[in-house]
Amino acid sequence: MDQDLAALEAALAQDIANAADPAALDGVRVAALGKKGRVTELVKSLGTLPPEERREAGAAFNALKERVTEALAARRSALEAAALDARLAAERIDVTLPARPEPSGRIHPVSQVTEEIVAIFSDMGFSVAEGPDVEDDFHNFGALNIPPEHPARQMLDTFYLATAGKDAQPLVLRTHTSPVQIRTMQAGPPPYRIIAPGRTYRCDYDATHAPMFHQVEGLVIDRHTHMGHLKGCLIDFIHAFFEREDIKVRFRPSFFPFTEPSAEVDIGCDRSGGELRIGEGDDWLEILGSGMVHPNVLRAVGLDPEEWQGFAFGMGIDRVTMLKYGIPDLRTFFDADLRWLQHYGFPAQDVPSTAGGLSR
Ligand code: DAH
Repeated sequence: MDQDLAALEAALAQDIANAADPAALDGVRVAALGKKGRVTELVKSLGTLPPEERREAGAAFNALKERVTEALAARRSALEAAALDARLAAERIDVTLPARPEPSGRIHPVSQVTEEIVAIFSDMGFSVAEGPDVEDDFHNFGALNIPPEHPARQMLDTFYLATAGKDAQPLVLRTHTSPVQIRTMQAGPPPYRIIAPGRTYRCDYDATHAPMFHQVEGLVIDRHTHMGHLKGCLIDFIHAFFEREDIKVRFRPSFFPFTEPSAEVDIGCDRSGGELRIGEGDDWLEILGSGMVHPNVLRAVGLDPEEWQGFAFGMGIDRVTMLKYGIPDLRTFFDADLRWLQHYGFPAQDVPSTAGGLSR
């Protein structure tokens, strides 16, 4: 009897070891422990034994059943682990491999720099706002403290659109991104901390001016925002954008109808030898306009200037793109010349982030 049991156990152990996959192992399990399995039959046969043998035999059968169950479970996990290993090996992906084939498309430098600017201001807690390219007179001029007879309207070389009816509000292609300040403040209550990158239009065309170009606007309005915040924010931005902490920054008194006081912001540069180098030398280069938002602008959107105040700024994206990446002629930006784009464009995987490096 004991020998029979030992032989059965050895035979089952052999079958279990030989099962090459979970399905085969299941067959072994059914043959041993299923309704008609060999171990099950043994346990069933207990009733046919003389009563005095049943106890001992029962204990032995049950012990066998347990060992077989354990052996099956052990084999099952070994098979599963091996199957997982095989699958991991088969589906292994080397994420460090460059994409194949190397994508040949390029991101336009203006798009790339816009993403760089968004990355920097996002880190400072700004969100991105948008407005339409076709603006009305109120948003582009009136609400920004630029009345009808104001010379700034000529200065801006505005494109006017034909409008229906002589009483209709004039429509324009926005001459700057500043109207997004107005739309942002109309859309909900302060505080505001936004930047608004986008297309702008002026009737102008030479090596440094295009009829369509890009600006980014900034607006911060809160209860206690002051000129110190303006300076800190823009100095931090300039250092982050040009990826150099040693760039000199100068705030030069200026005039804009929508800010008071106003300051143009210059960065240190060197022009000797006919070449422009940023962050060196004793020359200055203007890169943006800024100021404390004029009380009339706040009033135009129904905010009380005694309660709310803040700063705004505007910067030409194309211009800083030319500066940062050494692109000499603005007009080439909009020629849609693939050779130019291959040379000055960026691979799609180079997503700018302040943590991962802006331009690296
Ligand atoms: N809108 C101005 C322009 O197009 C730029 C500008 C200057 C925007 C000062 C501002 C600002 O928000 O405060 O020339």
